[in-house]
Amino acid sequence: SDSSSSVPHADVAVIGGSGFYSFLPDPTEHVVTTPYGDPSAPIAVAEVAGRRVAFLPRHGRHHDHPPHGIPYRANAWALRSLGVRQVLAPCAVGGLRDTVAPGDLVVPDQLVDRTHRRVGSFVESGAVHLPFADPYCAGISAALAAAHGDVRAGGTMVVIEGPRFSTRAESRHLADQGWDLVNMTGAPEAALAREVGQCYAPLALVTDMDAGTETGAGVGQAEVFALFRHNLERLTELLTTAIGALPDPDGCACGTWWDGIELTYEVPGR
Ligand code: ADE
Repeated sequence: SDSSSSVPHADVAVIGGSGFYSFLPDPTEHVVTTPYGDPSAPIAVAEVAGRRVAFLPRHGRHHDHPPHGIPYRANAWALRSLGVRQVLAPCAVGGLRDTVAPGDLVVPDQLVDRTHRRVGSFVESGAVHLPFADPYCAGISAALAAAHGDVRAGGTMVVIEGPRFSTRAESRHLADQGWDLVNMTGAPEAALAREVGQCYAPLALVTDMDAGTETGAGVGQAEVFALFRHNLERLTELLTTAIGALPDPDGCACGTWWDGIELTYEVPGR
């Protein structure tokens, strides 16, 4: 693939999770920089299902960035600087209850942010309070849920700081709260997408049952990566179908919450 520093246009982005380092057929690759530093990797761009699609591996091409070290602001800003208005965000999750099993695909509809050491906002001054009651774009979520009969819609994903997995007691506590899935990257990624006016929805692949639900050794990273790799083809097909069925972002409130609010940070192309 080519490498180029001229910034191309893209409408849609896929942010790949652990074990998901390429998505696009024959892409061009673009080194993009931002006021917030470099994104996780060069951004690949190609056409998929009639749309210009950008792919960014969240952890870097060689898994360089641990969950707490991902340049979340640079990633959101870089994608927006390409023109991206719709973001599909596959991610690995642990299951917290036995209604899910490894290999399941879920589009969560709620988020609990339990991270505590991450820069989670572009807002550094002024009164900018974005609405986030519904953290995910309903339009993208519906397209993902409709893309394949296997995909389940709904559920709450809690995001822990990591990089370690939860203890059994922590895991039982998360499940006792009524939460369904646990992950390490869904925050602040979703909120930053909203801050730059993007429609965003996660596609959670259950890679393991978290420690509180396991009687064995608890979760290990090898099973997470292996399960993700094992499901890559399925994920790629599903994402391609969903991209072809995305609604028009112009009709969506994800990109208009800031009407009447004076933003104190720059959003490219706004
Ligand atoms: N990502 C994948 N599996 C996970 C788990 N059990 N806990 C936190 N993040 C995860």
